[in-house]
Amino acid sequence: MDIQKQFDQFLQDKLDEKRSSGLLRSLIHAGDKIDFSSNDYFGFSRNPLLQHISGQSLPAGATGSRSITGNSPEAIDAEKSIAAFHRAEAALIFNAGYMANVGLFSCLASRSDTYISDEYIHASIIDGMRLNHANRLKFRHNDVADLEKKLLAATGKKFVAIESIYSMDGDEAPLQEIAEICQKHEALLIVDEAHATGVFGERGEGLVCHYQLEKEIYACVYTFGKALGLHGAAVVGSSVLRNYLLNHARSFIFATALPPHSYLQIQKAYQALPGADRKSLYELIDYFREAKTKYPNITFMDSRSAIQGIIIGDSFKARALSEHLFSKGIFVKAILPPTVPAGTERLRICLHTFNTREQVDLLLSAVNQFLS
Ligand SMILES: Cc1ncc(COP(=O)(O)O)c(C=O)c1O
Repeated sequence: MDIQKQFDQFLQDKLDEKRSSGLLRSLIHAGDKIDFSSNDYFGFSRNPLLQHISGQSLPAGATGSRSITGNSPEAIDAEKSIAAFHRAEAALIFNAGYMANVGLFSCLASRSDTYISDEYIHASIIDGMRLNHANRLKFRHNDVADLEKKLLAATGKKFVAIESIYSMDGDEAPLQEIAEICQKHEALLIVDEAHATGVFGERGEGLVCHYQLEKEIYACVYTFGKALGLHGAAVVGSSVLRNYLLNHARSFIFATALPPHSYLQIQKAYQALPGADRKSLYELIDYFREAKTKYPNITFMDSRSAIQGIIIGDSFKARALSEHLFSKGIFVKAILPPTVPAGTERLRICLHTFNTREQVDLLLSAVNQFLS
């Protein structure tokens, strides 16, 4: 066997191991199934205003990174309006939320500093912290007392990383308490608002603005791939932070920028956010929370956001349930380790303004039928 075939066999053996523990991933297309999986909470990705962005003829691509030829008036304007929208001084756009977090966390701390993150923090933040030489501590999920213990143990400058709405559990961080404890221990708080963007806040500004904590938080990450239905993300904070990132964040510096039309779409989506139908979304969330009381044998997670969960606790069973739902025309993904801890394998259900109450009933009765 030549060296390439041998190596492919080595990879295949690893894939077979994954398959035998029920954790092999594959790519499927949701097609026209009922969508209970996407993060497109308001259906913005299907909004004609965003799909057909302008009659202007703009370059198809950015032709370079922002630091070379990829900058544009559209990019600068989008950043200014995003900063104003979230009541901050400045914003810097990255090509994805993943790249924003990797860029931010890889360059912020120095070797003698400490990152402290919630144990359920998103993989993009973990990867960013791993690229940095600072110390790393984890605190128990949403446990402010445990966070304080870790703050007392931390050395150097202290950075605390949380999500305002956790991506896999849908629950909310105790933002105000965490902001207070960070202030008490002189720690810099960074909040990933990926799943709160558009969904919370009077105009969809997120939970940091909703609780008027803009001044207490050092930086926020807002992603455009969820409620805005698009792609990309912004780190929002001080002008100095923006300048620092554009000089140090490698995922910003060494990547071709988004094409100019993306910045126009981002601006349009932000203009549409205040008018997004949050009321219908909240009503559907309430409906789901009420409907689940009819199924005492199903283990639901507690969440008031658009992300709801059903714990299955077994990879094979979670996957079989997801496939069963797919065969009934419903698309809900099973979420498996390492995305969630072993034993908490689950269905992650995302609610959208375009889902109906009848669809929620159909979903829950199909889950119940499978589990009984
Ligand atoms: C909390 C959180 N942060 C960051 C990201 C990454 O964002 P993006 O999909 O834009 O790369 C995600 C998406 O999975 C997320 O859920």
